Amino acid sequence: MMTAGASRHDDAVFETRLPLGGRRQGKVRDVYALPPGADGQPRLLVVASDRVSAFDVVMPTPIPGKGRLLTEISSGWFAFLRSQGIIEDHLLSTDVPGDAELSAGDRAMLAGRTMTCRAAQVVPIECVARGYLAGSGWAEYRRSGTACGVRLPPGLRQCERLPEPIFTPATKAAEGHDENIDFARMCGLVGAALAERLRDLTLAVYRTAAERALARGLILADTKFEFGFALDAEGRPTDRLMLVDEVLTPDSSRYWPADGYAHGREQPSFDKQYLRDWLLAEEAAGRWDRTPPGPALPAEVVERTLAKYRDAARMLA
Ligand SMILES: Nc1ncnc2c1ncn2[C@@H]1O[C@H](COP(=O)(O)OP(=O)(O)OP(=O)(O)O)[C@@H](O)[C@H]1O
Ligand SMILES: [Mg+2]
Repeated sequence: MMTAGASRHDDAVFETRLPLGGRRQGKVRDVYALPPGADGQPRLLVVASDRVSAFDVVMPTPIPGKGRLLTEISSGWFAFLRSQGIIEDHLLSTDVPGDAELSAGDRAMLAGRTMTCRAAQVVPIECVARGYLAGSGWAEYRRSGTACGVRLPPGLRQCERLPEPIFTPATKAAEGHDENIDFARMCGLVGAALAERLRDLTLAVYRTAAERALARGLILADTKFEFGFALDAEGRPTDRLMLVDEVLTPDSSRYWPADGYAHGREQPSFDKQYLRDWLLAEEAAGRWDRTPPGPALPAEVVERTLAKYRDAARMLA
């Protein structure tokens, strides 16, 4: 069934087509330009859809309600981080903007899944902090004893806690897969001064967030941040650095239940692992080859994936 602003599967929002300018579509979020705020600075409306991506491919089946859960988790973290005073962020409001010309139907569809943000020139680096050895960090460590070029002590086991959290940047590839890069390469791309500042901020935010998550029964194994420079009224980047995008959601982070954690094996995680495992089985059966389009997801995969996002939101509330 189609509504004016969105294609819907039951209550799911697969994609939006709002009567606002500047529409851009990411894998999960639809981004629009909003009229400038009272201070004249450019603003964006970031809409979290119910799309889910895995292996960098957007699945054709939405996870109904995921966008609302992501928005709830991210805005909760922004509020907490603000209280810690480590860095500014781009979030202005999670209310559907009152001054935008939107129908009542669109407003209802958007409720709980929008963030009005300060527009930024985004630094084209994915700033990743890792406190535990998992995912691509573990894969590289097994091959070479390093994680993204960072030399680690020998003898670490899968999912083991690192002696110190490490910063492992990646490029933000416009198409295809992000690529892990070492710190020297990041310095070459954005300059040493900015690279050092982003590394220090990433690790500081990670440490603070990991501590809060642990108090709620979750290990924050690793997470990815994006930073950007706020734009001025003319759309030029200022020197005001902000945390942008979403933060500390199960899409950008690896969370494990602290209860039952043990290194030396894979951990159950609060994210798309169930979906990834199902996709790997599809691949093994020759039904999918990691290229778009992804396969339609069975109801059970949708339900179990959604349940993980719900659990994460409940525990982090
Ligand atoms: N304050 C901001 N100003 C400008 N762009 C932003 C801001 N916050 C987030 N973005 C961008 O909005 C987009 C959000 O969409 P989404 O996360 O779905 O994209 P994506 O598929 O991950 O693509 P990308 O590789 O560009 O991040 C991202 O490109 C992100 O960098
Ligand atoms: Mg993104």
